[in-house]
Amino acid sequence: MFGPKTHALQKRAQDVIPLGVNSNFRYWGDGITPYVQKAKGAYLWDVDGAKYIDYRMAFGPIILGHSFNEVDQKVIEEIQKGILFAMTSELEVEVVEMIVEMSPAIEMVRLACSGTESTMHAIRVARAYTGRDIILKFEGNYHGMHDHTLWSTYAPAESYGNARSPIPVPASSGIPKSMREFIITLPFNDVEGFERVMHSYGDQIAAVITEPCQGNCAAINPLDGFLELIRQRTEEHGCVFILDEVKTGFRIANGGAQEYYRIKPDLVTYAKALGNGYPVAAFGGKKEIMSIIGDGVAIGGTYTNNKPGVAAAYATLKLLKEKPILKTIENRGQRLMDGLKDIFEENDIPVAITGYPAMFSFSIGLDKVTNQREWTQSDRNLNLHLTEKAIEKGVMPDHDAREPWFLCYEHSDADIDETLNVYAEIVKEVKK
Ligand SMILES: Cc1ncc(COP(=O)(O)O)c(C=O)c1O
Repeated sequence: MFGPKTHALQKRAQDVIPLGVNSNFRYWGDGITPYVQKAKGAYLWDVDGAKYIDYRMAFGPIILGHSFNEVDQKVIEEIQKGILFAMTSELEVEVVEMIVEMSPAIEMVRLACSGTESTMHAIRVARAYTGRDIILKFEGNYHGMHDHTLWSTYAPAESYGNARSPIPVPASSGIPKSMREFIITLPFNDVEGFERVMHSYGDQIAAVITEPCQGNCAAINPLDGFLELIRQRTEEHGCVFILDEVKTGFRIANGGAQEYYRIKPDLVTYAKALGNGYPVAAFGGKKEIMSIIGDGVAIGGTYTNNKPGVAAAYATLKLLKEKPILKTIENRGQRLMDGLKDIFEENDIPVAITGYPAMFSFSIGLDKVTNQREWTQSDRNLNLHLTEKAIEKGVMPDHDAREPWFLCYEHSDADIDETLNVYAEIVKEVKK
């Protein structure tokens, strides 16, 4: 895969940047890691000039399209008036007002710059509010790079131990062993396990944090009633329910999974689609909980209201409110999901399609999938083989099958048709 300039740039980068990338997830391997030249709309060009229909969308942030004119124009207009003041501007108040208006569960918000920052802050607020330390998270969910929840995001299923008493597995060296004391992990969608843990430890748990679907493991959907169960039990035990909408927020509905599932968590985290790719994030929730910030709870950051991010969020949210953007994405995404399913079925390859039209995945060889342990049984080799073939033909999902396909407003019907043609061809080829 990829041409000589890509390989040369990887070598050069690896001399000065660990792995040759500035985030480990961007490293696909030596000689097979893409390096980008530019992106526009739904397309991306690598440094060799090859063009792709991009379904990675930077891991989700690009909801409108790469380099979307109305967003970029607002950013340019605003940055000419200064980008950072260590003071609050009217524009950021307006952005927060829009977040509150669009999010069913949010009354107050603090801005941040990344998803990692927003989940880290939400966890501190939850711990401060409850006076407790333990966090319950689900295997296969990813909440950012901080030590608090970088546990059981991805590991061989065997290392997770028995599903009745899972072993939290740190996803990196360098996480203090003592942090283990503060984390409980469970398989996603494990109703019985969740009931058991809440019964035994509910009164010691500060927060239950979950992605609404497993946005970092094939977009596995919650079973009917699972999010509602979390809502109910956390309320009964006085724990904070944090819904991590970093991937689903401003993507699966204007009001995110809160609107989609009609669920009211205590705190919500956003990033990604909030600013169509610019560095802006947010966390917020009930006034009663958020109000403790400032009352002995420290939350801050030099760049939390950086003007490019805030201006981009302003333009993105305004567009989402004014136009049927997510509906358009939903219609096209649905056609892509259905079309891919048909292609696998026509070739007698079982496949479980999970997620939503705006972010979905397929797990080959499975009829259904409800958690990461099950997902590891899917035919990941075949998926990888298909992905590499698709990339050679100009269609780019992520190399890692855990990462969903993401759509943006600028993916056209013609892009969907082309993608389906490519998959019809390559699936038929592998079937032979
Ligand atoms: C659900 C979720 N939470 C948090 C994060 C961390 O966000 P960031 O990469 O902006 O720090 C991610 C990143 O992919 C995510 O998917």
